Formats: sequence, structure tokens, C-alpha cells
Amino acid sequence: MAASKKKRTFDLNKIPAHIAIIMDGNGRWAEKRGLSRSVGHREGAKAVREIVEEAYDIGVKYLTVFAFSSENWSRPKEEVDELMRLYLEYLKNAENETSDKDVRVRIIGSRQGLSEEIVQQIQKVEQRTIDKKRMNLIIALNYGGRQDIVQAVKKIVDDVENGVIEKNMITDNVFGRKLLTEEIPDPDLLIRTSGEMRLSNFLIWQCAYTEFYFTPVLWPDFKKKHFHDAILEYQNRSRRFGGVK
Ligand code: FPP
Repeated sequence: MAASKKKRTFDLNKIPAHIAIIMDGNGRWAEKRGLSRSVGHREGAKAVREIVEEAYDIGVKYLTVFAFSSENWSRPKEEVDELMRLYLEYLKNAENETSDKDVRVRIIGSRQGLSEEIVQQIQKVEQRTIDKKRMNLIIALNYGGRQDIVQAVKKIVDDVENGVIEKNMITDNVFGRKLLTEEIPDPDLLIRTSGEMRLSNFLIWQCAYTEFYFTPVLWPDFKKKHFHDAILEYQNRSRRFGGVK
């Protein structure tokens, strides 16, 4: 679209169905203020709440946030412990915070390595929100895209070996349904904050045709207006999925 014809406010009728977010920059936000990284993560959790609310209000159907990657275990133990405390707190509150809302909460990622308390809380919140329909909040916790692909390959191999499907029946669609995201549609828009421009093992299969939006804003500073900017930019893009317009 020509620059002069670009829309200036986003269109509520064309909200991306699935928005995925890499919430980056908590540590730098804190360091800039001479605070501990933990404080940055706490502020980051506040930003999550604001964006979840806004996504709900404007009609986003799926919102996936990258909370903790399979590789984040390599951070100092105190930081990992603090993050796990935050996730537990968030999961415990999630039910109350979303009780007046029609939000289904799901957690994707490996349960291995997570504390028993977190695993139980995950099961509880997933179970209690299973019938909610308006929005899906998907939290990627202990998640790695490559790891997910490997476990999907194993499931497919099992199905072939057990005669459930034949090798020539494997399509990208069939394969996609073995991933942790199963029936969740691919993200339309992926936002990464803090100026970093990479996927970091997040939804690497699912982002084949996703529009990427990078912003220098650090995650704790990411507010409604930044979210709107990302959506507006998305609405000004031309998606062709390999075809022509
Ligand atoms: C990246 O910032 C952020 C994380 C690894 C964790 C994301 C966690 C939150 C936003 C807090 C709470 C989330 C939920 C769902 C309750 P970084 O620490 O890598 O920042 P840096 O690159 O500046 O060091």
C-alpha cells in the first residue's frame, strides 16, 4: 500500500486472530534503573496483564506469550527461581483475574523440570477454563520449538509403526496436529520487544507465514498504545502466502 494511503488507526474488524509475543527486555529495563533483574520480571508480569486485557477487549481470539524457553534454565538459579515464583503466582491468580471473562488458559511446553506445584496449578487452570470461548490465552512455559517438532516426529513414527496412518498420508497439516499447538491456528502476527530480531526457538514451525513486528520498546514499557501500533502495522502489510495479490 502506498505510504499516503496507509491507515492511521487500526480497524477493529480486522484484528489478527492469533497474536504471539516474545516479551523481551525485562532485564535491561531493570538494569537501566539500577534495579535487580527480578524487579524487571515483576514489571514484565504487570505488562502481561495489561496486554491480555486489551487483547480480550479488542477481540483477539488467540494470544500466545513466550514466558520461559527450554533454554532459559541456563540462567542463574536465583533468576529461574524468581521467574518460577512469578509463573506460579500468575497461574494461581489467572482464574480469579479471568473469572469475569470468557478466557481459556492453556500452557504449552514440557512439564519436565517444572515443580509439582506449578504442574498442578497448570492442570487446575486449564481444567477450570476449558469451556471458555472468547479468547485463548496460551502461555509457552518451558517451551522450545525444536523440541516440539522432535516430539511430534516421534508421535508420527509411532502412528506409522502402529498402522494408524501410512507414510504417504503425512502432510504438513497432519504433522501440525501432532505439535503442542494442535488445533490452534498459526500466529498472524508475532511481536518481539526490546530490539532483538530473532525467533529464539519460539513457534518455529507455526510462524512460516506470520508477519513479524519488532520494536525497541522494552517489555515492561510495552503498553496498550504499542500494542495498537503493532496491530496497525500488521493491517498495513500485504499478506500473500507465497501467491500474488
Ligand atoms: C525476557 O527478558 C523475558 C523472559 C525470559 C521472561 C518473560 C517473563 C515475563 C514477562 C514475566 C512474567 C510473565 C508471565 C506470563 C507471568 P530478559 O530477562 O531476557 O531481558 P534482557 O534481554 O533485557 O535481559
